[in-house]
Amino acid sequence: MKFICTQCGKAADSATMACHCECGGLFSLPQDHLPLWDKSLIDQKVWSLFRYHAFMNLDADEWKFVSMGEGMTPIVPFNEDVLFKMDFMMPTLSFKDRGAAALVSHMKAIGVKKCVQDSSGNAGVAVAAYCARCGIECEIYVPEGTSPNKISMIEGFGAKAVVVPGSRDHCADVCRSKVEEGAYYANHVYNPYFYEGTKSYIYETFEQLGRLPENIFIELGNGTLFIGAVLAVEHLLRSKAIDKAPNLIAVQSENCAPFMETVEQNADHIVSVDVKPTLAEGIAIGKPARGAEVLEMIRKHSIRVVTAPEAQILECRRQMAAKGFYVEHTTAAALAAYYRYQELYGPTHDALISLCGAGLKSEH
Ligand SMILES: Cc1ncc(COP(=O)(O)O)c(C=O)c1O
Ligand SMILES: [Zn+2]
Repeated sequence: MKFICTQCGKAADSATMACHCECGGLFSLPQDHLPLWDKSLIDQKVWSLFRYHAFMNLDADEWKFVSMGEGMTPIVPFNEDVLFKMDFMMPTLSFKDRGAAALVSHMKAIGVKKCVQDSSGNAGVAVAAYCARCGIECEIYVPEGTSPNKISMIEGFGAKAVVVPGSRDHCADVCRSKVEEGAYYANHVYNPYFYEGTKSYIYETFEQLGRLPENIFIELGNGTLFIGAVLAVEHLLRSKAIDKAPNLIAVQSENCAPFMETVEQNADHIVSVDVKPTLAEGIAIGKPARGAEVLEMIRKHSIRVVTAPEAQILECRRQMAAKGFYVEHTTAAALAAYYRYQELYGPTHDALISLCGAGLKSEH
């Protein structure tokens, strides 16, 4: 399998231990060679997201050992307009298992023995779990303020959790200095295998409903769910399985919204923003590493960005719990953003929101 550099276009063997191209650009995996969507290619014997393996870039069959049944999450109505996709029903209780299962399958295939990763929590938990399953040693860097429950899970899987004072962006910088020293970077943003897993969010929805909802709200920090979803929608369009793209809406935190600012200013590059504290820790990314790629997707598909009002997050979390959905704050932020979207653009029917993380992971 070949990686393609998103900056200079040069190809590299995907078995590389390097986390980016020599030019500094991040890698991507080609999509156009994959077969067009065809229901008969769904592997009906596989009860995990790997039932879509025909449409994913994967090395050999490692996933058969690595998979813990992630994906296949139910879609449940919240009210007559909103559907929830229950992505907290995963081995480590967040959607990050979609990407981690694919990434760690790749790592096992190329013989990685030891890795480092930085995360606001959930991706670190997911990578730590799958590494534990495969006997890969791992060290997870998390910013101070990360929920203690997430740190306990990381440690529970036998990984080392390193708490870094300062912002989420600083935490990533500290981790990357370890990568410069030679550690394999099992990072959900850098490594394109992660997106092969998150593509399944859309494939599953399409298979379960037999259609895609009109409005799909996607939490956007670095964009791991966002990029996977866009790649899958583009694939379904290319396959003529759908004749038009759903209205994708990217959700950012009001207190950390680089994509919102960039779109509003119509800037060429991701503008730098002040990152204020937010309850939505999962999407508090001020310097998204794939910012240019995500921005290009936003522009190409005319994707709207909406922010979650900070003051509404706890109320939304209560509302969701009152109907039986116990989610973490970042997830409640998506519902807050849905209400905000309605204020801006009017009644919004047939909407899908990812319940991206479970409530027991956050404190209050
Ligand atoms: C619960 C939850 N939702 C959404 C996100 C956003 O994912 P990304 O930063 O890849 O866009 C995260 C990231 O950690 C998360 O933990
Ligand atoms: Zn390059």
